[in-house]
Amino acid sequence: MSNRILVTGGTGYIGSHTVVELMQQGYDVVIADNLSNSNIEVLDGIEAIVGRRPDFVNVDCLDYVNFGRLFTDYPNIAGVIHFAASKAVGESVEKPLLYYRNNVGSLVNLLELMNKNDVHNIVFSSSCTVYGQPDAAHLPVDEAAPIQPALSPYGNTKQINEDIIRDEAHATPDLHATILRYFNPIGAHPSAKIGELPNGVPNNLLPFVTQTAAGLRPMLRVFGNDYNTPDGSCIRDYIYVVDLAKAHVKAIDRMLKHKAQDQVEVFNLGTGRGLSVLEIVNEFIKVTGVEIPYEIVGRREGDIEQVWANPAKANQVLGWKADTPTADVLLSAWNWEKHLRKIDD
Ligand code: UFG
Repeated sequence: MSNRILVTGGTGYIGSHTVVELMQQGYDVVIADNLSNSNIEVLDGIEAIVGRRPDFVNVDCLDYVNFGRLFTDYPNIAGVIHFAASKAVGESVEKPLLYYRNNVGSLVNLLELMNKNDVHNIVFSSSCTVYGQPDAAHLPVDEAAPIQPALSPYGNTKQINEDIIRDEAHATPDLHATILRYFNPIGAHPSAKIGELPNGVPNNLLPFVTQTAAGLRPMLRVFGNDYNTPDGSCIRDYIYVVDLAKAHVKAIDRMLKHKAQDQVEVFNLGTGRGLSVLEIVNEFIKVTGVEIPYEIVGRREGDIEQVWANPAKANQVLGWKADTPTADVLLSAWNWEKHLRKIDD
């Protein structure tokens, strides 16, 4: 049996780290990416780490004909990991149709092409955003927690796509799907050869912290210190991107070895530990020795107060655990920023 995996969005942040882990475990990878939010040089970084270059096809998953051609050119795909999607929450509020077209349209094309080409295994990138703000009884949040109405079109595309996968699996008995709900991925590969490449002003906390540390931003704004949390700032489950990438390999292994017990399996991918914004900032200052000027400002609209994972199912069933110490994760993020900005120690 072939061990070739199609990774859509494989030059992106989580995608590129996953390609590295797949290749290091002996998988052949073909990446489909339109480079809309990534960079072709990512392939050099992957090659430098792994010693082999993944195959790469510059294609938009919305382009049915050319995306379909990939399946003809690579007739032996064992499984697909589908990362390709637009992911900026704020942008999705301003341009909802772009998000529905990109995120939903891509998945529909992919599932049709998988069906046509006898590809039966898909891992889908979902998000803890589907849980919204769980009530206290559901924290830490496990996979059985209720799905809440989405707070943004981006979040809604994740919910819709999960439903599309379930419906398609129902109609197609030989389709197997693993839905991975990520908490907050941070950090970069320890080699500092790949990492996150935020476009413009970062929305997410860690890239903003590292850019502030590098002097690109004068000051970090901490959005609110009046939440009902121990220090008043929001709490998230920050998961190391390399740990997250490894979970994808476990998920693919499980499907290819026919170990999945349900046709559609769902896993929360987090550490099981919540950290506040201020804890992250203070830990970053401690481990890097670099000051982060910050000010407390008002709450950011749409922010959830606190959410962190119960990852017991992924721990037990996938045999996977996110156990990289936070200090190492924060250092990896800083090393990547220094690499990008050519800052010496
Ligand atoms: N934060 C700041 N200052 C900043 C940036 C972020 O204080 O400059 C705070 C936020 O208010 C929040 C925390 O840092 O409390 C984390 O914010 P991020 O933007 O890094 O992450 P979110 O939890 O808001 O968003 C993430 C993903 C989304 C996903 C969402 C689901 O980025 O893709 O989780 O809740 F939809």
